[in-house]
Amino acid sequence: MKVAIVGASGETGQSIAHALIEQPDAFEVTAFCRPASKDKAEFTQLRNRGVKVVSLDLEAPHEELVAALVGQDTVICCIIPFVPETQIALANAANEAKVKRFVPSAFGPVCPPVGVLVLREIKEVVLRHIQKLYLPYTVIDVGWWYQTSLPRLPSGKLDYAIKFPNNKIVGDGNLRSALTDLRDVGKYITRIITDERTLNKSVFVYNEVLTQEQIYSTLEELSGEKVSRDYANEEEILANIGAAQNRYDQDGSVANLLGLSTTQYANSVWLRGDNLPESASYLGYLNGKELYPDLKHVSFADYVKELVAGRGKGVYVDRVFGFEKDTKMFTKQ
Ligand SMILES: NC(=O)c1ccc[n+]([C@@H]2O[C@H](COP(=O)([O-])OP(=O)(O)OC[C@H]3O[C@@H](n4cnc5c(N)ncnc54)[C@H](OP(=O)(O)O)[C@@H]3O)[C@@H](O)[C@H]2O)c1
Repeated sequence: MKVAIVGASGETGQSIAHALIEQPDAFEVTAFCRPASKDKAEFTQLRNRGVKVVSLDLEAPHEELVAALVGQDTVICCIIPFVPETQIALANAANEAKVKRFVPSAFGPVCPPVGVLVLREIKEVVLRHIQKLYLPYTVIDVGWWYQTSLPRLPSGKLDYAIKFPNNKIVGDGNLRSALTDLRDVGKYITRIITDERTLNKSVFVYNEVLTQEQIYSTLEELSGEKVSRDYANEEEILANIGAAQNRYDQDGSVANLLGLSTTQYANSVWLRGDNLPESASYLGYLNGKELYPDLKHVSFADYVKELVAGRGKGVYVDRVFGFEKDTKMFTKQ
C-alpha cells in the first residue's frame, strides 16, 4: 500500500511514520514536508530509514497538490488542526487524485462534534467537507496521551520528560478516561488503514481506562514520592473556560485557541466523561479493542517505570507555546 503522510515531523506523525516503516513489505511511505522544514532532523531520520521525503507547499495551487497525491492509496494528515483550510485543500486534491482513503488530523480524545471543544469543531468542519466530496475516509481518535497525563514529581525527577505536567485533579479525580501511549498510535494506524471495516467510519483506539486518582497513585507507587492533590472543581473549570473564551473571542490567535482548548479538555476529558469507550460507542465510533483484540500496547505502569528510570521521552520538549502562560492547568509548581 502506498501511504503518504502530511505532518510526519510532528509528534503524531512520527509515531505513525515509524510504525509504517517497520513493515516495508506492507507499506511504501512518502512523507510530504513543508519546503522550509525539509532539513529538520525528523525528516533526515526518515530519509535515512528509506522514506521518500518530498517537499510540498500545502498552499500550492490545487493542480500541484493533485499531482503530488496521484498514485497514493492512503493519505494520512497529522498536521496541526488549528485551521480547516489546509486539510480541506488536501482533501480536494486527494479526491481528484482518486486516493482510496483520507485520514484527517483527528487523533484526539473522543468528544461530541459541537458545543464542547473548539478544536473538535474545527475538525468537524474538515470532516463535513470530506463527506460532501464522498471522499473515502477514516477518522481515528486515540484518547488522551500518557505523555500529557502525569503531574510533576516534587523532586523534579520527571521534568526532563514532562513539558506539560497535569497538576490539577479535576472534580474528585474518580472519573475514568481512556489513555494511550503516543508510541502505540502508529501501531493502531497500521491496522486501521488496512481494514475495510473502518472505511468511512470513526474508530476509537486506546490503551487503558484510568482515573486521575489512579494516575497519581501509580506514579506515587513507582516513584516512591508523595504527590499532593490540588483539586479544581466544576465551578473553577467552567470559570476558566469562560475567561479563556473571552480572550479567544477578543483575539482569535493560536495562543488563545490553545488556551481555550486546554480548559475545555479538562471539562470534556475529566468532568463530562466524553473520552470513554461508552461515549465513543454512543457517538458511532468503532472500538479498537473489538476490532484488534490481539494488539499489544504499552501499559501505563510500564510507561511510568520508564520515566522514573530516566529512560522516558517527552513530547514537545524543545518547543515553546504562547498559551503556556495563560493556563493554570499546566504550571510547574
Ligand atoms: N490525543 C492526544 O492527547 C493529543 C495530544 C496532542 C495532539 N493531538 C492531536 O494530534 C494531531 C497532530 O498534533 P501533534 O501535536 O501531533 O502535531 P505537532 O507535533 O504539533 O506537529 C505538527 C505538524 O504539523 C505541521 N505544521 C505545522 N504548522 C503547519 C501549517 N501551518 N501548515 C501545515 N502543516 C503545519 C508540522 O510541520 P513542520 O515540521 O513543517 O512544522 C508538523 O509536522 C492533532 O489533530 C492534535 O489535535 C492529540
